[in-house]
Amino acid sequence: MATFAPSPAAVADIGVTGMAVMGSNLARNLARNGFTVAIHNRSVGRTEAVMDEHGSEGDFRPSESMADFVASLKSPRVAIVMVKAGAPTDAVIDELADLMDEGDIIVDCGNALYTDTRRREAALRERGLHFVGAGVSGGEEGALNGPSIMPGGPKESYDRLGPMFEKIAAQYDGEPCCTHVGEDGAGHFVKMVHNGIEYADMQVISEAYDLMSRALGMSAAEIGDVFDTWNKGDLESFLIEITATVLRHEDQRTGKPFVDVILDRAAQKGTGAWAVQTALDLGVPVTGIAEATFARSVSGSVPQREAARAVLPAQVEAQDVPDREQFIADLQQALYAAKLVSYSQGFDEIAAGAAQFDWDIDLGAMARIWRAGCIIRAKFLDRITEAYRRDPKLPLLLADEYFTQEITRCVPAWRRVVAFAAAHGFPAPVFAATLSYYDAVRSERLPAALVQAQRDYFGAHTYQRVDTEGTYHVEWSADRSETRQDQPEGSVTHGAVDRAAGEQSQRRSTEGESHHQG
Ligand code: 6PG
Repeated sequence: MATFAPSPAAVADIGVTGMAVMGSNLARNLARNGFTVAIHNRSVGRTEAVMDEHGSEGDFRPSESMADFVASLKSPRVAIVMVKAGAPTDAVIDELADLMDEGDIIVDCGNALYTDTRRREAALRERGLHFVGAGVSGGEEGALNGPSIMPGGPKESYDRLGPMFEKIAAQYDGEPCCTHVGEDGAGHFVKMVHNGIEYADMQVISEAYDLMSRALGMSAAEIGDVFDTWNKGDLESFLIEITATVLRHEDQRTGKPFVDVILDRAAQKGTGAWAVQTALDLGVPVTGIAEATFARSVSGSVPQREAARAVLPAQVEAQDVPDREQFIADLQQALYAAKLVSYSQGFDEIAAGAAQFDWDIDLGAMARIWRAGCIIRAKFLDRITEAYRRDPKLPLLLADEYFTQEITRCVPAWRRVVAFAAAHGFPAPVFAATLSYYDAVRSERLPAALVQAQRDYFGAHTYQRVDTEGTYHVEWSADRSETRQDQPEGSVTHGAVDRAAGEQSQRRSTEGESHHQG
């Protein structure tokens, strides 16, 4: 006897298969918002549990089999897949695809790698099906009460899917935190960058906590009070808010500050690492996100940490900081500046991804849909929204008039914090890396010139010059003459170019020698 009789007709506006917490919460959110929601789970017991506990919250159509689940969906069908990323998702997509018709839509709301999403979207497009990779941010609570949703996939699928997602998404100033991000894997790409920024945000908050705890000797509760105060200003955000909460929490088992009984090894499911790997492939310096991701790896490098602790000088602890209030004020400004650089770098990665994969991603819209519902929701995303409204093609967030002024204001404090941490042995990788990025990105000239010379010396990898066009190499092991390696505009023939380059470099080296001897 089937637990659930097949639905008498195709009546469900949308369906969710995968009734773990995220999937069932998403289904509940849809049902609470008036949609008829088909639900299914590989093991029917989970579906039964959802119906037992939440069946009264809206119009659910539970199915025992995937076939009944698909049959209960109105056409064009929309089925959301909420199962483990990777092979399980592939398996469910294949099963759904065999049961669905042209024009139907499969939505992956998990944290899938955007390259998997691009592959799946291409494969399903061949079968006339729409595949949407949608980033969903806000955790279990967000899925239930209003996440930020970042759907990619075909634009026409958003016409069917968008109104439902916009209704269940978090709302900010009456605007849904959901928009069509771009084709194929764009949605999951943006979610990946969101998670990278999340890592940087969390890490730099932890570095500020560490300095207040170990340099100033403050208790977790005292530090929680500082974060609570900061949450009333420019740093107002979900992550600052929850940081104040967890720091003020006492472990129920011991009565000690909760954070003090937690093992200091940070886990990671992988989305931050994806953001860094992708940025490396795209050549985008996401140094804040990278240092935050590596900081988690450092914390988990148990053999290395034990070996280091055994032989390297002990950690310098609480300091006699003359002006504690000033130090805490410095931390607040340094935190804001480091956060700003991390967001700026994250938006650079989105822009680079859009260029690489030919996605038309509106950076301002991404800031807009992150203002509520997602983990990095923050007051200053309003400012980022305004910045991209001023200039949708802004080449660098830091170059926006508001943020230029803001980061300039914070630099003296930022330098004091990084200098203090370095001078007294407190690891502050994101504070320091973002400051170095700030100093590098605004530099008139970088020491990369020397790197180019080194590369040309040992690898003949060539270099360009500041005073003329072209690509050059020095014959380091011979007469150290410089030869042009590319063909200049309008060059006549191959031989002539070499000769001309040779003569030119001969002239220069002669001039150079005469200059040198002069
Ligand atoms: C979100 C979160 C979520 C993330 C988990 C675990 O936007 O709701 O980013 O998607 O996967 O918080 O992330 P890590 O294990 O990588 O820290």
